[in-house]
Amino acid sequence: MGNSKTFPIGIFDSGLGGITVLRALYHQLPKESIIYFADTARLPYGNRSPEELIQYVREILTWMEAQEVKMVVMACNTSSAVALDIIRSEFKTPVLGLILPGAKGAVQHGKRIGIIATQATVNSNAYKDAIQEVEPATDVWQMACPEFVPLIEANRINDPHTKRVARKYLQPLIEQNIDTLVFGCTHYRHLAGVFKSILPDHVVCVDPAEYVVKATEQELDLMGLKNATLPMPTRFAVSGCPDQFAELSHRWLGYTPLVEKVDLTEFMTTPPAPVPVRRNLS
Ligand code: DGL
Repeated sequence: MGNSKTFPIGIFDSGLGGITVLRALYHQLPKESIIYFADTARLPYGNRSPEELIQYVREILTWMEAQEVKMVVMACNTSSAVALDIIRSEFKTPVLGLILPGAKGAVQHGKRIGIIATQATVNSNAYKDAIQEVEPATDVWQMACPEFVPLIEANRINDPHTKRVARKYLQPLIEQNIDTLVFGCTHYRHLAGVFKSILPDHVVCVDPAEYVVKATEQELDLMGLKNATLPMPTRFAVSGCPDQFAELSHRWLGYTPLVEKVDLTEFMTTPPAPVPVRRNLS
C-alpha cells in the first residue's frame, strides 16, 4: 500500500458539469491527482427519484473505493442534495458535498438569494434549508431548470434557443429583485456568459464549486492528506460513450482527455439490511 497522501481525490457527476469542480481543483489544489467519473449512461440526474440517485451514488462510491481514492467530492449538486447524508454513513472514505459550502458562500454576498438547480435539488429544499440555517435573515427563491443540462450536454451553449430558455428561468428571480444567484447545478457554470447577459449588473453569481474546493483543502489539511509531490494525470471514466465525453469535454478542459468506460453494474451493492423491528410477543 502506497502513501495515502499521493492517492487521488475522486470526483463525480452525471456528465460535463463536474468539470467546473475539476477546474476549481486544478486551480486551488494543483498537486492533487484526480479521478473523474461521469455517469453519462444515466444522465440527466435531475429528474431521477431519490431512491435511484442514492443507488447510483452507492455504486459510484463502491467503484471509487476500489480505485483507492483518499476522498470523494460530489461534483454534483443533485447527488449532494439527495444522497450525501446516507452515503456518508455507509462508506469509510470521507465524502464532501456542494450544498453546505455553497450555502456558506452565498450568504457572504447577499440577502435575496436565487437558486437555479435541477428539479431533484429543488424538490429536496437542500439549498434553501442550508442557506437559512447559516443565515436566517435571508430570502431564498428556487427555480428548477430541467432544460439546461440536455442543452449543455448537446453543446448548445451559444444557441439562441438556450438564451431564450435562460431568460424564461431567470425572469421570475429577477422580478423578486435577487442580489445573488447560486449555480445550484455544476453544469450551469458553463452558461455563466449567457446568465451575465440577462441578469442585472448588481446580481452576484456564486459558484459552489469554488467553495467546495476550499472545504476540500481544509479537510485534507485536517487529515494530513494533502499531496506534496507531482500529481498523476487526471483519469477520466464514464458509464456511457467514452468518445462522446472526450469530444464534448475538450471545450471545457482545453485538451482531449483519454476516457475509459466503466461498467458500474459490476459494482452494484445491495443497501444495508434495515434494522428489524422488535415485536414484543409475550
Ligand atoms: N451536474 C449535476 C448537478 O449538479 C447533475 C445534473 C443532471 O444530471 O441533471 O446537479
